[in-house]
Amino acid sequence: AHLLCVVAARPNLMKMAPILAALARQAPTVRVTLLHTGQHYDTAMNGQLFMDLDLRPPDICLDVGSGNHAQQTAEIMRRFDAVLDAQPPLAPDAVLVVGDVNSTLACALVAAKRDIPVIHVEAGLRSGDRHMPEEINRVLTDQLSSLLLTSEEGARAKLLREGIAPERIHFTGNVMIDSLRQQLPRAITPAATLRAHGHACPPAYGLLTLHRPSNVDDPAQLEALLGTLGELSQQLPLLFPIHPRTLAGLRLSGLEPLLARHAIVRLPPLGYLEMLGLMQKARLVLTDSGGIQEESTALGVPCLTLRANTERPVTVSDGTNTLAGTQPATILALARGILDTGGKRGRLPPLWDGHAATRIAAVIAPWLAARRGPP
Ligand code: UD1
Repeated sequence: AHLLCVVAARPNLMKMAPILAALARQAPTVRVTLLHTGQHYDTAMNGQLFMDLDLRPPDICLDVGSGNHAQQTAEIMRRFDAVLDAQPPLAPDAVLVVGDVNSTLACALVAAKRDIPVIHVEAGLRSGDRHMPEEINRVLTDQLSSLLLTSEEGARAKLLREGIAPERIHFTGNVMIDSLRQQLPRAITPAATLRAHGHACPPAYGLLTLHRPSNVDDPAQLEALLGTLGELSQQLPLLFPIHPRTLAGLRLSGLEPLLARHAIVRLPPLGYLEMLGLMQKARLVLTDSGGIQEESTALGVPCLTLRANTERPVTVSDGTNTLAGTQPATILALARGILDTGGKRGRLPPLWDGHAATRIAAVIAPWLAARRGPP
């Protein structure tokens, strides 16, 4: 059988690496083509991660780059469709997509229209917030998928409510945590990371990331958030690796100098091994990322999510995550609470055990074989 696997943006890579390794190990007869859409293209957002994760270079690159949602999604669809028409035809038996980025939906839509079955890893996550572009991508990708592999237990009920047939859903666990457990021994120490970027390492620090459009695209919202975080930084210095989207927002709104006035240490987007090292030793993580909510739960580090909702509720019910919203007073009170008490300890959610990819391969390989029928 031939499986075409799609990656596109930074958070896809930590998910794909263990899946490819498990398929190579458990299903060596499955031929795997790795396609990169090029949604993320900077070395810091892409190239470094391939090295950190021992991910092999993609077989096909679409080089789509950035654009608004319609342009980016359309361009991915157009180029992916053209690749499937290549001579000789690629003719995959299925297309595997991960996560919730624009490329996930674009490639799922192209495949489904061509009657190529779609496998979605990280299916059934819902924030309930359709203002989030990722939520639209999640809902639609799941509707288009033949096989839905979930990372947390509650996802199943959400998919059933949306009319997905139960036999298509498999709870395989969180593949992001496979990468985390595998790479943690190689994590780079905070002192080394900070030194490499020209800073001294504070004895205690919080780790901050921001990139959601709702937080960084609106200058007033970004300014209010940074004011709050600046105040917190007087008590606990904050390390802030800045996403390109956020940097653009900071520049556009003239807010860059604000960082220097507070104890907010600005860093470029970091490698995976650098990030793991910083997260592991942080007193507190403040983020609007999805993956970092999960990683902080897996590491047992308290996390404040700077959003009104999360599509990963198990990080709140079981893990170390608290939804802090974006109100200054609430964020400060919650952060100070964590500094006083140490914060939520949490426990590891079910099947966040480092073996999700093994279970994924165990579902996919026989499924592909059955669809293909006897040779
Ligand atoms: C995308 C995903 C988001 C994910 C995030 C992780 C969608 C809708 N969003 O958001 O779910 O959490 O990736 O990073 O797919 N840029 C660069 N270099 C790059 C990539 C982006 O400079 O390598 C800049 C460009 O100016 C671009 C902006 O960042 O316009 C946003 O990039 P884009 O891929 O559109 O969305 P993200 O905000 O990264």
